[in-house]
Amino acid sequence: MCGIIGIAGQSAVADRLLESLRRLEYRGYDSAGIATLVDGRIERRRAEGKIDRLAARLAEEPLAGTTGIGHTRWATHGAPSEANAHPHATDRLALVHNGIIENHAALRKELIARGHRFSSETDTEVAAVLITDLLAGGASPKDAVAAALKRLEGAFALAIVFVGKPGLIIVARRGSPLALGFGQGETYIGSDAMALAPLSRRIAYLEEGDWAEVTPDGATIYDEAGRVVARPVRMAESTGALVGKGNYRHFMLKEIHEQPVVLGDTLKGCLALDMRLPRLPPLAFKPEEATRWTLIGCGTAHYASRVAKYWLEELAQVPVESELASEFRYRRAPLDPKGIALFVSQSGETADTLAALRHCKANGLHTIGVVNVPESSIAREVEVSLPTNAGPEIGVASTKAFTTQLAVMATLAIAIGLARRTIDEKRARALAEALIEVPARMTEVLARAAQFRTLAQTLAAARDVIYLGRGTCYPLALEGALKLKEVSYIHAEGYAAGELKHGPIALIDDVMPVVVLAPPDHLYEKTASNVEEVIARGAKVIFISDARGAAQFKDRALATVEMPDVDPFAAPFLYALPVQLLAYYTAVLRGTDVDQPRNLAKSVTVE
Ligand code: AGP
Repeated sequence: MCGIIGIAGQSAVADRLLESLRRLEYRGYDSAGIATLVDGRIERRRAEGKIDRLAARLAEEPLAGTTGIGHTRWATHGAPSEANAHPHATDRLALVHNGIIENHAALRKELIARGHRFSSETDTEVAAVLITDLLAGGASPKDAVAAALKRLEGAFALAIVFVGKPGLIIVARRGSPLALGFGQGETYIGSDAMALAPLSRRIAYLEEGDWAEVTPDGATIYDEAGRVVARPVRMAESTGALVGKGNYRHFMLKEIHEQPVVLGDTLKGCLALDMRLPRLPPLAFKPEEATRWTLIGCGTAHYASRVAKYWLEELAQVPVESELASEFRYRRAPLDPKGIALFVSQSGETADTLAALRHCKANGLHTIGVVNVPESSIAREVEVSLPTNAGPEIGVASTKAFTTQLAVMATLAIAIGLARRTIDEKRARALAEALIEVPARMTEVLARAAQFRTLAQTLAAARDVIYLGRGTCYPLALEGALKLKEVSYIHAEGYAAGELKHGPIALIDDVMPVVVLAPPDHLYEKTASNVEEVIARGAKVIFISDARGAAQFKDRALATVEMPDVDPFAAPFLYALPVQLLAYYTAVLRGTDVDQPRNLAKSVTVE
């Protein structure tokens, strides 16, 4: 997943392109580059690594020009290097790309046979050389791009500037997001509204298959068949303000501490506060009549949906599947047309989740989204979007998005249970009360966050870590392992505590830390038995439970963490904090790039 930006402007563009690239850095930060047209010629500046490296390069060698494109890269084909950094250029054009060109090898071979040479290992350069080849054959920029789009397979958002054509950018969208922004005598293109926010809030989103000629006076948009189409222009919600870290050292820590507030904001949107009961937005269909729910997402969003599976099954007594989007979209699973597919995504741009959404819509399912970015592709393509009001989540490791996703799905489960009469209003009100308590209980835990800094010393010294939980804390064990892996680079695995004795217990020794999530619920005793089993084998257990549980293992665990009392229904919200804080402080001790860990990006818009 990469970020692209472009300006067909009236004044110098390089600095503005750079600023917008900073807003796109969450999409990838392996390398970055800018190309502008200077007296009709293409000038480029590229740098390996983060935007700051490109900024330094531009400070050394400034770029003029009022037409330009920029790119920040998450490498798919070809190592993160300056040679592979976008924009890719030929003697006729410069091009930036977000996505994967799947038939790049065949096209590269064909173009080499036609005498072309390549200077990078990327799939992207194939598009640049293909369009150049068509231009050399006499085609106009528009016709050359139109013809090339027919040859390219895969997913892409492209932006191209042409030698001798100042003021012209041609863009195309297939499978990767692309938006247009409209200014005073300038027109902009970008991967999302946040990148365009400092330039314009008047935004139009290209749809699948759209391509466009962009000039300072506006844009002519064509659909896949080449017909001129219009796309609605709306006022974007994204502000131009760059989200800062405040007094926190990292965005991840800031966002962990923001959870009580954003959770309260999200719950306010879900609970009819007067009745203190969950309310469903007006829907064109009756979700209570659904015969099956399929919850779909990736990574942390998938783990949130795995927690929601327990809630929806228990409260609404309806069959629920929680599916990994990347697997589900390629399985030929029978789909129940009376079913509902719910898509969980912070960014709303995750390629696998978006593809699964389109697959479900094509099969007649009703679709609901639980999304944090209101103008994102998923939020715009589902029938109903239920927003998580987490605010911009900048840290690549998802934290506040996770707990606000839980909040939306917890209130949805209560509302569906009420509508199906599988729970009564008294039970629904009690559950809603438990949710309303969560922000205050979270604040109590965060007030003692320092204890996790101490515990992190154990994890930071480990080669492997196991996380255990049962019931709704089993997905939390999975999420805890993911958090640790992605920010500290330590191998970790989450297991259902009851599953340990079926093999993984062989891993237990007196070296590997075992983090156990054991809220005081109906499964506590079972989890306690599993802890006895691993302690008997010398395990170093970090036992996270309520006061009673902490006391039970105080003398035999390596450490115990006492959590505030909480209704078992709301436990996943609270027990998410220890796993987030353990991961954060371990990463800090390990000296990793906490907010932008290696090899990762915030939004995975490629398969
Ligand atoms: C979570 O910490 C990771 N950054 C990653 O697993 C993420 O949750 C996943 O890529 C899904 O992203 P989305 O919520 O934006 O769809």
